[in-house]
Amino acid sequence: MDRFLIQGGTPLEGRVVISGAKNAALPAMAASLLTDQGVVLHNVPRVRDIATLRSLLEDLGADSSITHDEIGNTLEIRTRRLINPEAPYELVKQMRASVLVLGPLVARFGEARVSLPGGCAIGARPVNLHLKGLEKLGATITLDHGYIQAHADRLKGTTFYFDTISVTGTENLMMAATLAEGETVLENAAREPEVQDLANLLRKMGADIEGAGTPRICIRGVGSLRGAEHTIIPDRIEAGTFLAAAGITGGNLVLEHVEPQHLNAIIAKLGELGVEIQPCGEHGLEVRGPATLRASDVTTQEYPGFPTDMQAQYMALATQAEGSSVITETIFENRYLHALELMRMGADIVVEGRRAVVRGKRRLSGAPVQASDLRASASLVLAGLAASGETVIDRVYHIDRGYERIEEKLMRVGAKIRRMTED
Ligand code: UD1
Repeated sequence: MDRFLIQGGTPLEGRVVISGAKNAALPAMAASLLTDQGVVLHNVPRVRDIATLRSLLEDLGADSSITHDEIGNTLEIRTRRLINPEAPYELVKQMRASVLVLGPLVARFGEARVSLPGGCAIGARPVNLHLKGLEKLGATITLDHGYIQAHADRLKGTTFYFDTISVTGTENLMMAATLAEGETVLENAAREPEVQDLANLLRKMGADIEGAGTPRICIRGVGSLRGAEHTIIPDRIEAGTFLAAAGITGGNLVLEHVEPQHLNAIIAKLGELGVEIQPCGEHGLEVRGPATLRASDVTTQEYPGFPTDMQAQYMALATQAEGSSVITETIFENRYLHALELMRMGADIVVEGRRAVVRGKRRLSGAPVQASDLRASASLVLAGLAASGETVIDRVYHIDRGYERIEEKLMRVGAKIRRMTED
């Protein structure tokens, strides 16, 4: 298992090119199942989750090819026919987003068998709304031997209200509804930019969708969809992580290939901590870390609120801010595993239920720590960059799931970080 070795204390300086959004590329890849023609996706990040979904799609019957571009990859996927409708437990347990194949499989082929994801490190994360929505669209769903078994002749348009806002739930049902008979209205839908990006791709494929990016999405089903070519949006969480990296090291970075308007909440909240962020051209941001960060509270919310996927990175920054910051996590019930590791490095954090109080500024000292999930690992990298001495992060496969060669990008802007590969 690979580890990162970090020598902290160097302010980061230079330019970082932000990759395509993993969370936009995954549903786009799943959408390719909706047509027998080819779907070409540009700016696909080179991360492990993408490789995982690609092999799942190939198991289902897709042919795919990949071209390595200067920035990101171009992935072409074509599913002429279904070989096997099953997403097995081994894959779904590695990556919950595998459940995104459920809607497209039922809509186009009338059948799907997808393992239930089970628990995961950051909370229970059920898929009940995906299933309830598909049933409302006319699918028959049974659960057997840990698998979701779904059947439908042709899905029928309906109105579905999400009790809880769900990003992949919205994406799954939006994809399913594109091939349903009649109109579907999704109420209390997720408004994330990744949902909008998926709607843009689906429209290029011939889908009739209105309202993506608002809580009410209207989809008029069509008989079939065609192939399309699409460029994935930049990863707002990777961008946010590099903004935090400049902030925590007192550095100065220019981020290229970003979509600043997707980062409004992140820019506002890091600004309250004292991190200075300015636009730099149309798709760039310049960030300067202050001499002293100041404490500020934050609550995670659905988009356009502050993303839960930036909560761990925010916590690392808060450990270095003067004063107490209260962090409230409203999306996932158990997303503070990084707090324990940060405490081992010297942070003062008290977690009570969904709230964490971070008292700063505490001197961080390098220590051996363990990554527990994707974004938790990012917060440990940030803490390692700010700590005195050496930090060793174990289980970096978590970070490889969603960050494209983060150590190389960091090294290029002056960080002392290296990967140790063990057999
Ligand atoms: C997506 C993102 C993930 C991000 C999360 C919240 C992808 C691939 N992943 O995950 O990075 O952290 O959004 O922004 O895009 N819920 C239910 N029932 C359901 C579905 C969800 O109760 O059927 C609950 C979840 O337990 C959670 C909340 O809804 O408390 C939001 O989860 P959801 O938006 O579904 O997260 P994901 O789509 O899995």
